[in-house]
Formats: sequence, structure tokens, C-alpha cells
Amino acid sequence: MRRAAALASAPLVAGCEGRQSVLAPAGVDAAALSTLFWVMLAGAVVLWLLINGAFFYVTRVRQRAMSRAWAEGIILGGGVVFPAVVLSVLLLWGLSLMPDIRAPGDALRVHVQGEQWWWRVHYETPGGAVVAANEVRLPLGSRSEIVLTADDVIHSFWIPALGGKTDMIPGRINRMSLHPTEPGIYRGQCTEFCGESHAQMAFEGVVMEPEAFRLWLARQAEPALPPADGPARRGAEVFQAEGCGACHAIRGTPARGRVGPDLTHVGSRVSVAGLLPNDPEGFARWIRDTDDVKPGVRMPSYDHVPSDDLAALALYMEGLQ
Ligand code: CUA
Repeated sequence: MRRAAALASAPLVAGCEGRQSVLAPAGVDAAALSTLFWVMLAGAVVLWLLINGAFFYVTRVRQRAMSRAWAEGIILGGGVVFPAVVLSVLLLWGLSLMPDIRAPGDALRVHVQGEQWWWRVHYETPGGAVVAANEVRLPLGSRSEIVLTADDVIHSFWIPALGGKTDMIPGRINRMSLHPTEPGIYRGQCTEFCGESHAQMAFEGVVMEPEAFRLWLARQAEPALPPADGPARRGAEVFQAEGCGACHAIRGTPARGRVGPDLTHVGSRVSVAGLLPNDPEGFARWIRDTDDVKPGVRMPSYDHVPSDDLAALALYMEGLQ
């Protein structure tokens, strides 16, 4: 019996761990929300015990009629006064967390635009915008502002380990901010149904030491490295021949497309398309089985590319560090 219960609860408990969990906070905002959750949970448990205790008392212990005054007292006290006080306190506490979540931040401003089904990311820098996709990197220990927009339908931006979620609405600019306190790689997820591949609209929230972040950002601002000799150079030719540059930009090359993610430093990202491991196999899988990985996505599956060329293209992508 006990073993069955443990087995049955294992998936539930496993869902609370790891890099996409509100219960493993790695930021000031997530910690505040997690405290709020635990207090509400504890309150709910106490309330459940009280209600069931009262029920047990009147059905098993005191099986007599109650005086009218008592009954009215319980209804007014337990049904009106008590919930009004508890809910008011919770509401005030919840509202008091809002200003921090919307605070403008210390320095960095990141623009994130939801697309079907990926994330277009711009970092504001003195030298201009640094463009990336499918991952949001933030410096440790300071508050960064995140400006949220959408191009097509409503999406919602959420890195559970770092903070709350905010909707991304076409024609509207929403702002939030995050203050990470633990370096690491966390998982973000679109949390507003946005079409066929909503569940696959994932990304990474990467928290870096401030100095490492500064170096990374400077590197991202630079144009792409030319491909190494051999297969990677062949991959660059395949990229051009297949017309990939119509949708994707690789700064420093003729590829200037704006429809899909900027690929200038795609090899340096944590994952491919927010889902697959960032290695040549991951790139090959994505390019060949696009529609399998993210059903309905606008990029066609390039399954007609011969496997040699596909491997070369994947090597080229991986080399875009
Ligand atoms: Cu984007 Cu759900």
C-alpha cells in the first residue's frame, strides 16, 4: 500500500524539482512567489483541518441541535468575517509584490517578442541592439527589465525559477523585470495557448556572472565567424543554395532574412530551437524534421537535402559561435 502510494506520487513530486520549477526559486521574484505559495498552502491545510474537524464534531461528537445564536455566529464569523479578513490580507500581500515585478531594473533592458513558436530577443546596448533567439541571458545579482511584445497571437513569457509570468499581446507593450540570485540554466515556457506547437515553445533562461555576461554580450554583437575549411565551408554553400538567408540573418554574410531567428551565433546557444541539444545532431534533426519537432511551424522540413550536405550544414551552424 505504502509502496503504491509512493509510486503514484513520484511523478507529482518530480514535477516540483529541477530547472523549470517555481518551488526551486533562483531569483528574488520567484522566492517571493514561492513564499506566498507555501503560506497559502499551509493556510489551506489548516482550513481543511478546521472544516473537517467541525464537521466531525457536529456529526459524531455533539449530535444535538445548536442554539440559533451559535449557528448565526458560525455563519457570520466563519462565512463572512474570517474569509474577508484572510482574503484581504492575501490580496494586500499579493499587491505589495507587484511594484517589484514591474520595477524598471538596474541597467539591462531586454526585448522579447513572442512568435509562433519561438522567441525573438533583443538586448539594448550602447552600441545598438544585440539580436538573439530562444534564450534570454541575464546577469546575476541585478534587476533586468524585460519588454514583452507579440507579433501574431497572444503568448506568455515565463521562467518559473526566476519569477512570475507576463502575457505578450499583439499591439501592446508589457513590462516586467527579473532579479536572478543563482547562476544556472533554467527552462522557460510559453504559458498562453498560442497554436499547434504552444507546448514546444520553450526557451532557456541563462543566469551568468556579471563579467561573463558582459563578455558574452560583446561577443554576440560581433558578426559571424567565417566557416572553417572543409565540411563547414560546404555547409555555408548549402545554406546559400537552399535559400535559408531569405528567412534567417547571419551578420557578416549576405543572409539578412528577418522572418526566422537570427543565426549569427546560433552555435553558442544552449539548445537548438529551445528544445534540442546544441550539437550537429541537434541541428540536423531540426533542419530535416522541423515539422516533427514543432508541428505546424512555418519553416519547412528540409528532408530533401542529401545527408552529406545536411551534416555539413549542421557543422556550419554548430561553428557559428
Ligand atoms: Cu506561445 Cu503558447
